[in-house]
Amino acid sequence: MEIVFSKLADLNAADVVVIAACEDDKSFVGSKLKLLFGDDIPNCVLNICGDLDYKSINSFGTTVGGKLKEVIIVGAGCEDLLNRASVEKLGGYVFDGIKTKDANVCILNNIESSELQAASYLVSGIVLKSWVFEKYKTKKTSPKIKSIDCQTNYADLNQSTFVRMKTVNESVFLVRDLVTEPANILDPDQLLNEAMQLKKFGIKVTVLDEGRMKKLGMNALLGVASGSDKPAYTIVMEYQTDTSKEALAIVGKGLTFDSGGICLKPANKMCEMKGDMTGAAVVIGIMRTIALQAVKANIVGVIGVVENMISGKAQRPGDVVVSMSGKTIEIDNTDAEGRLVLADVLWYTQKKYQPKIVIDFATLTGAIQVALGHEFAGLFSNSDELCDELMKSAENVGEKLWRMPLHPSYDEDIKSDIADIKNVGSGRGAGSITAALFLKQFINKEAQWAHIDIAATELDSKNRALSQKGATGFGVRLIDDFLTRYYANHEKGD
Ligand code: BES
Ligand code: ZN
Ligand code: ZN
Repeated sequence: MEIVFSKLADLNAADVVVIAACEDDKSFVGSKLKLLFGDDIPNCVLNICGDLDYKSINSFGTTVGGKLKEVIIVGAGCEDLLNRASVEKLGGYVFDGIKTKDANVCILNNIESSELQAASYLVSGIVLKSWVFEKYKTKKTSPKIKSIDCQTNYADLNQSTFVRMKTVNESVFLVRDLVTEPANILDPDQLLNEAMQLKKFGIKVTVLDEGRMKKLGMNALLGVASGSDKPAYTIVMEYQTDTSKEALAIVGKGLTFDSGGICLKPANKMCEMKGDMTGAAVVIGIMRTIALQAVKANIVGVIGVVENMISGKAQRPGDVVVSMSGKTIEIDNTDAEGRLVLADVLWYTQKKYQPKIVIDFATLTGAIQVALGHEFAGLFSNSDELCDELMKSAENVGEKLWRMPLHPSYDEDIKSDIADIKNVGSGRGAGSITAALFLKQFINKEAQWAHIDIAATELDSKNRALSQKGATGFGVRLIDDFLTRYYANHEKGD
């Protein structure tokens, strides 16, 4: 898709003309229609313009200068309510409205008076919504857009903003691709291969194999891996262009498939468990984005990559493992495996790097869907300050977070009769909270830590504003925004 921002878009070349307009300047639409029709705007066209409510879409086909064109009028609502998130979403709706295949799209808008970068946000939304996974279709049939020419008074600003957004969006697509790949293709070795690709962006990638992890005492992770014929890895990605800055760690759950183990999951929807490596994919996506933007930073990404299978070697309910931290864990349920993997990966990360901030992404619990549905990811944290910053970014990019209690009154629930803790609560509800409290057992008090449970936001069976049904890539845009602000503030000496 070829994308340009220009002071004067080429209307003649367009198959699709998009007019995006705020409700308080209705004359704008009329003036743009005049460009297409001259003074003889057909009445039926004038009637169709609507009241420009946010998300309202009106479209019609017409012949202009002998050429067939699709015209789409999209309402942007009240100008004061526009921000990056709402304009990007509007872009998603515009994509849904385009019926022409292989279209050359021209966009005219009046929404940039309050948001100077509105043009790039709008185009970013269109691009994000256009992603499909057709690798295994022998016939590729999804509608594509050939080019976008977006008219704007701030062409240079939008061009440069979009360069940044393009990098981020491509990382989102990488995450969606990895999540959608089936587990027979994307196994631990292949996920390792994907992490290795980051080397070309200046990231140092090191791998702890099972032998190394055994020596380190990462038995919680290895216990999960024991039922699978595939290898397990802890993969470390270092992007350290400024080691004078305190380290910041992003950690991800990377179950390339989660059958549940001996506590086997029901067949219905088990196939979705190929996406149980989303946390790891998000970490890879974030590392790629940061490296490509050449941020001066000290960031380490660490992922635990394992397959949870069933076999004669699989761990049993009732088993006890000694984690790397020395804490003993009773395995009450082999399907609560993500927290076991993360227990060791979080511990290893903190021991090796002493990060000031640790953020982990994990498709950890089905219970988070019960609590929050598919709209919000669950945020658990020991730091109000870190939550505030993450919430700001969530608001800005529209990847919503809801803070959940990480309260010690639930700690009782994961006490074990024979070990220090057990890996599931006693069935008294609050499954996402007890999972987070389990992780907290492996977090240093000095670290500012946030755990983001993305089990329900990673995939959606319904169309979302910025993604079609399937993988969303939730998390990359959020942390890109968070890190951009974080390092900008630190440069200022905050
Ligand atoms: N990977 C699942 C969580 C999950 C569920 C992710 C649905 C995406 C969609 C996790 O390993 C799991 O199985 N958790 C159990 C925990 C339970 C045994 C305490 C769950 O949520 O049922
Ligand atoms: Zn599980
Ligand atoms: Zn899992």
